[in-house]
Amino acid sequence: MLPSLLSLLLLAHNVLAIPNPSPKASRLEKRAPGAQDYVIQDLWILNELGMRNIPSSPIRRINRWGTKIPEACVYEAGLSKHQCPLDQLDVFAVSFQDAPEDMDWLFCRCRDAKHSEGELIEEVGRLPVAVRQRVRYIMLFTDDHELGADSSGNDLIMRELNPCVIHHEAGHCFDDNGSRSGSAEFRAAIQKDTCYLDSYSAGAAQEEVFAEAWAQVFLLQQFMNRTGKKLDKNLDCMENQLAVVNSQSVASSKKPFEKALKRKWGGFILRKDLIKSGVPA
Ligand SMILES: *[C@@H]1O[C@H](CO)[C@@H](O)[C@H](O)[C@H]1NC(C)=O
Ligand SMILES: *[C@@H]1O[C@H](CO)[C@@H](O)[C@H](O)[C@H]1NC(C)=O
Repeated sequence: MLPSLLSLLLLAHNVLAIPNPSPKASRLEKRAPGAQDYVIQDLWILNELGMRNIPSSPIRRINRWGTKIPEACVYEAGLSKHQCPLDQLDVFAVSFQDAPEDMDWLFCRCRDAKHSEGELIEEVGRLPVAVRQRVRYIMLFTDDHELGADSSGNDLIMRELNPCVIHHEAGHCFDDNGSRSGSAEFRAAIQKDTCYLDSYSAGAAQEEVFAEAWAQVFLLQQFMNRTGKKLDKNLDCMENQLAVVNSQSVASSKKPFEKALKRKWGGFILRKDLIKSGVPA
């Protein structure tokens, strides 16, 4: 999950009067970092520092689906935060050139979404194929509900759309049900470090939601490794987290497509059955 703009602003407001953390806590005073101990307030600056220049895989084809909708998309479209009538939900399968010809990614986009189908496909194509293959469906809804994006661990549920937000959410899918963020190594790294990467990670980790801290470090790791650039900040205070996420992700995120690792599709609902049950489809 990602914070709404509002909660980010509130968070920013709350810490406004607090001076920057001193990352140099002595080894004797070791403690898990606190909510105010972070390197950077807003990691989304990486969008402008190079994330938008990461190339996107070209696509081979788009197949439009007229008769079936993934159950998971029907569910999300019905939530009050999305409210997408199903006759407004476009379902299409995209084949990317960096994966075999018979492999498709399934998208569900509500027609009231702010971002276009082309933008959505471009952002998904920017994900390394080894990360993208852990994503089942990609959904896009309108983004005026103060919610950034979510991941179910299988699916990307986008409202806000940019390279950072999609790498963060895909990071949750790549985390494979917390197998990386929930590892003893990552927990130990947080204990050893004296800061988190950003205000969002710090806030989430204070609530023991380590998957969020992990996904932000994963985003930074992808930025550094794929653009060859560095964040103009001293990262010593979070060196252990960075080292763990690197060892958990660098090699595995660079692998070519592997069919066995492609996340399997779930159930589907026929539009005509929805109409029969009284739901406009
Ligand atoms: C994820 O982990 C939870 C708790 O460990 C487990 O109940 C669930 O079945 C797992 N889901 C998947 C998709 O592996
Ligand atoms: C990315 O990671 C790989 C594997 O660890 C490494 O060989 C390569 O130099 C890294 N690239 C950059 C730009 O950091």
